[in-house]
Amino acid sequence: EQVLLIDTDPGVDDALALLMAYERANVAGLSIAAGNVGLQHTVTNALRLVELAGADTPVYAGCAEPLVLPAADAAFVHGADGFGDAGLAPPQRRADSEHAALALIRLTRERPQQLTLVALGPLTNLALALRLDPTLPQRVPRLVIMGGAVTGRGNTTVPAEFNIGFDPEAAHVVFSAWPQFELVDWEATLRHGIDLQRFEAWLTADDARARFYEAISRKIRGFHRERGRPGMVVADALAMAVVLDPDCVQRAEHRHVAVELSGGLTRGATVVDWDGRSGRPANARIVLEVDQARFEALIRQALGAD
Ligand code: BDR
Ligand code: CA
Repeated sequence: EQVLLIDTDPGVDDALALLMAYERANVAGLSIAAGNVGLQHTVTNALRLVELAGADTPVYAGCAEPLVLPAADAAFVHGADGFGDAGLAPPQRRADSEHAALALIRLTRERPQQLTLVALGPLTNLALALRLDPTLPQRVPRLVIMGGAVTGRGNTTVPAEFNIGFDPEAAHVVFSAWPQFELVDWEATLRHGIDLQRFEAWLTADDARARFYEAISRKIRGFHRERGRPGMVVADALAMAVVLDPDCVQRAEHRHVAVELSGGLTRGATVVDWDGRSGRPANARIVLEVDQARFEALIRQALGAD
């Protein structure tokens, strides 16, 4: 069984990714980033998820702000509370007192070569951990990141995807210090939308997780409908499918990826060296295509709809 360490900013699609993780793997810790909404909310939502999963995972609060410049959240998509303003009861559990960045360092020291690191939010905590302990990558055999827009079709500014655009300096630290990671980007997410009617049928399953997800995703499903999107797009869930079922990847390319920090129009863009012009070695395995049926099966199982 895989053991996961998940850095996340829940968030409606983060929530689905976490349900998938609990269904198929062992979750050693949740380190929490600010992003979709403020840190108070993302921590609260992570604690709610741990309770729903009936797990005992420690939750570590991380940085409340990006490393350098303030950034706007995505409450207009995820709701002011990050969980669709569904009026959920507060969780009983509390977060651990250890900072997320320190927990990432400690947990990987305690279990060297054993943890898969999954990053589903802005990379602030991971960047800080790397600066505190540059040997971190040596202990982590696999890092999967949801982030970026590999041909420049972003979802925040024209070229920037949210997780990278929220904290470009943090992404720069991670992309330049981590020798080899897997990247699941926004454009792959768009190619793997899920038919909304099919998705909504799963949400009627007689399972606490389906009921929970029906409630927290109501707002975002309305958002998709308003925009005429045929499918439900769940970025973090796609990244988690790659984590849990590596063989579901049908097409991937190894390339060098850098983060633009200063462009007037392009701050937060991921610049992919598709044609080897930079002469720099590939740092990323960019996932381009996954098996849609396997991806959807993992989601159905996580919702108890199988
Ligand atoms: C990413 O940004 C967040 O809004 C989602 O949770 C996902 O991690 C998609 O761009
Ligand atoms: Ca996220």
